[in-house]
Amino acid sequence: MRTTTGWQVDGATATLRRARFERRDLRPDDLAVRVDYCGVCHTDAHAIGAHDGGSGVPLVPGHEFTGVVTETGPAVTRFTAGDHVAVGNIVDSCGECPMCRAGQENFCHAFPTLTYGGTDRHDGSPTLGGYSREYIVRDKFAYPLPAGLDPAAAAPLLCAGVTVWEPLHALGAGPGSRVGVVGLGGLGHLAVKMAVALGATTSVISRSPGKAGDARSLGAHEFILSTDPEQVADARDRFDVVIDTVSAPHDLGPYLRLVAMDGTLSHLGHLGPVTVETMDLLVGRKSLSSAGSGGRPATAAMLAFCAGKGITAEIELLPSAQVNEALARLRRNDVHYRFVLDMSDLS
Ligand SMILES: NC(=O)c1ccc[n+]([C@@H]2O[C@H](COP(=O)([O-])OP(=O)(O)OC[C@H]3O[C@@H](n4cnc5c(N)ncnc54)[C@H](OP(=O)(O)O)[C@@H]3O)[C@@H](O)[C@H]2O)c1
Ligand SMILES: [Zn+2]
Ligand SMILES: [Zn+2]
Repeated sequence: MRTTTGWQVDGATATLRRARFERRDLRPDDLAVRVDYCGVCHTDAHAIGAHDGGSGVPLVPGHEFTGVVTETGPAVTRFTAGDHVAVGNIVDSCGECPMCRAGQENFCHAFPTLTYGGTDRHDGSPTLGGYSREYIVRDKFAYPLPAGLDPAAAAPLLCAGVTVWEPLHALGAGPGSRVGVVGLGGLGHLAVKMAVALGATTSVISRSPGKAGDARSLGAHEFILSTDPEQVADARDRFDVVIDTVSAPHDLGPYLRLVAMDGTLSHLGHLGPVTVETMDLLVGRKSLSSAGSGGRPATAAMLAFCAGKGITAEIELLPSAQVNEALARLRRNDVHYRFVLDMSDLS
């Protein structure tokens, strides 16, 4: 075993504290990655909120990071020490089920191994995330970071980015299609940048009037204030694809009513039970779907697309020691539009 330093919660308190913890020794197909930058996802805030410490296993969040390979196992051929890499929220899968064979490891029938809060499929140890200086990852689940992408601003592409990329791509966002993005946060602002770059006419649907200017700077063609009934009524049946990134439980009805006939509401933000009035689907033959993370091919394609179009997140870079402040601001919607932690203060 080797050790690294990171930020963890261990009891019922929501405050992360600096701690040392173990990392496994490299297996033949493992990489050791020096984590340089890790994004702060709203899922991290949810996970910290849900952690009660009862299992005795600390929670180390962080599932969108970039860094540099420092060591490789003997079977690794795709990477060598010094390579810049990116890692997202899946670090392993069964590799054999139909989903894995189709390159949708995110939907692995045996459930993918999550970057944190998961269980290693080989030794049964709990996975501890990227709010740390070193991560050991199976080479299959590390991605070369394209040259030209700023490593700090690219980190959020690995969770927020790919989570919106897969449905945008699968639902055909492109020239001639109309995309609505609900919630202008970490996922939402990347959805806007990607939808615009794909050629879709893109609107932001937000409850925050102060974000109208930012929406336009991000390339959105329109800003709809979700608290203004008139603006919402005007947008009825307008969008082929609505990407819902709202982080709190909410009624899907108002957003389904924005979907055009035969269009789709992709509900990505708040995962859990929802109540749907079937009339909101019936009228206009609408679909409700969801998605999460991405398979390996889609993740690589997303990185190539972003490198080609110069897309990265709008970030506020903070020393990792300010992680608790970043999470507090994220919880009160004070983020433009992703916090990224600079891990160099952990060395
Ligand atoms: N499906 C997946 O695999 C996946 C992956 C990553 C994250 N997530 C989830 O996606 C959600 C968004 O994550 P994020 O990191 O983008 O969060 P975020 O940066 O906090 O953005 C969420 C946005 O939702 C809107 N919002 C928040 N609370 C709201 C409320 N009560 N009513 C209406 N709108 C509200 C806000 O936008 P406005 O101010 O513009 O209204 C906010 O900026 C989280 O729940 C996260 O856990 C899911
Ligand atoms: Zn995430
Ligand atoms: Zn599988």
